[in-house]
Amino acid sequence: MCGLVGYIGKNNAKDILLSSLELLEYRGYDSSGIAIRINDSIVTYKDIGRVSHLRSIIKNNIYSNIGIGHTRWATHGSVNRINAHPHSSFDGRFTLVHNGVIENYLELKMMYLSDVDFISSTDSEVIVNLLSYFIRKCSIEEALRKLISVLKGSFALVIFDRDNMDRLYVIKNKTPLLIGKGNDEIMVSSDALAFINSIDSYICLDDMEYAILCKNSVKVFDSRGNIILHNEIKNDTNKEEISKGDYPYYMLKEIEEIPSCIERIRNKYIYEGCITIDESLLNEIRDSDIIYVASCGTSYYASLYFKYIMEKEYKKKVDVLIASEYIYSFEAIGRNPFIIVVSQSGETQDVISFVSKCKEKGLRTLCITNTRYSTLERECDYSLSLEARKEVAVASTKAYVNEVVLFYFLEKAIMNDINRVVVDIDELLISVKDVISRNKEIDNIVKQIVSKDHLYYVGRELGYYGSLEAALKLKEISYIHAEGLSSSELKHGSIALIDSSFPTIALIDNMIDELLVRSNLQEIKSRDGMTFVITYSPFYKDGDSLSLKLVDSSLRIIPLVVVSQYIAYKCALLKGNDIDKPRNLAKSVTVL
Ligand code: M6R
Repeated sequence: MCGLVGYIGKNNAKDILLSSLELLEYRGYDSSGIAIRINDSIVTYKDIGRVSHLRSIIKNNIYSNIGIGHTRWATHGSVNRINAHPHSSFDGRFTLVHNGVIENYLELKMMYLSDVDFISSTDSEVIVNLLSYFIRKCSIEEALRKLISVLKGSFALVIFDRDNMDRLYVIKNKTPLLIGKGNDEIMVSSDALAFINSIDSYICLDDMEYAILCKNSVKVFDSRGNIILHNEIKNDTNKEEISKGDYPYYMLKEIEEIPSCIERIRNKYIYEGCITIDESLLNEIRDSDIIYVASCGTSYYASLYFKYIMEKEYKKKVDVLIASEYIYSFEAIGRNPFIIVVSQSGETQDVISFVSKCKEKGLRTLCITNTRYSTLERECDYSLSLEARKEVAVASTKAYVNEVVLFYFLEKAIMNDINRVVVDIDELLISVKDVISRNKEIDNIVKQIVSKDHLYYVGRELGYYGSLEAALKLKEISYIHAEGLSSSELKHGSIALIDSSFPTIALIDNMIDELLVRSNLQEIKSRDGMTFVITYSPFYKDGDSLSLKLVDSSLRIIPLVVVSQYIAYKCALLKGNDIDKPRNLAKSVTVL
């Protein structure tokens, strides 16, 4: 959450900062701001709203070769201009941008800054004032180290110093901070995406490190002031990957990229009929007596799929955890547990904190992620990549699909059962492509639900897990309140809400569950509830809403969820919502 950027170099910092912030806007978009050097002053521009608005309030003819920028997802203090970043210290010496949360900011305020008049309600303003306070008695490096030693929480900071306007200081703890090196220019950012236009390679700072950046030099130190050297990573982010092309929204583009994502993950993990997953990883999983999978949001719903197939087919106990619920209380049961975490971004703080807890206990970890060199990838013992390429829309679509496909490969590899893998993937591709080509048929459902306030998605087993994800997607971008339920659970309470204004969409994925789900739908109809059925062709009955091409494996959850992604997208479109940047949300959730 929050995107930050800093620039020193030969180009106009204002332009670089603004275009980088546009690329980082998916991380937060309540407000935005930049601070740049103009002659001998640091000048700050900030306001609520998107980066495009910020652009419109800054004069075109301003030139600067150094500056910092920020796009905010509010944590402390409401969304207003004063709380927007950058923030400056009481004496005007330091100006900073911050991503993260300072847990002890009130304590620090009382301890060191009782005579400072604060302007904003943010924790970030405490940091910048602390630096001005510490510098009174020591050098800048000592002051930076002192700052690191007193701050508790997560912080990526980029700091501008009025008394030395040719450099920037950066500090990192528990939230990403990358330093990119180009030709006569240095950039710093929360995501390599911001480097796309000019930076060839970058380094990732580790926790509790700080760095001093000048136009031609980067010096990194640990919290005791020892010099640290990091390996450089080539910046291979591809411009095409993050372009919207002819699509009106990233979400639609990303849904329609699903077949190519499936092909890419198949090509990565299937070679000459074998699954190419590290045998030592497979053995560790096989040797474990219980597997814990921890994740959040959509990744959590994909994790439930793994539990389902592992317990049903491999007969191994899998416990799926909402990562945030177990940060403090996780106690692994079993002699030899194995931990898997799943995160599209690889930067979800709830999951990172869970992994830290597991590492303290000496547990072995696998991370499944879409983001190379992410914090989770670096923290875990093993990692498997999702190959979905950058997902920009806040609503996760293609990454969910590849999470399920990767889990399918993992389970087949653990079981050493590769017989049907190629056929299953081919069948899946045919069915998903068919959904995409016939997506107009979904409009009929959309028309009837778009004006409703509430909706249930129901199913059983895989259909139930698909319903959970379908409901999240609908809430997230169309703002229709939705719940995913096992259809059999309706009669235990939820059916009380059903009336003619409360629709239910059933996801029917197999013959055994079909009869039960249909009988639960009858109970809804008897109470005037409106019902829709999305199912595969062999189970299709007159009056159903959509018949899909059969997928005869556990991957059948995917086409049903893809339909629900279209439903969410189309509802949001009709309502005129900001589909890629839904209200109150951000793509990368880097706070606890
Ligand atoms: O990057 P992650 O997979 O760790 O993100 C987890 C959730 O924040 C994410 O899936 C969220 O629920 C999506 N916006 C759902 O579309």
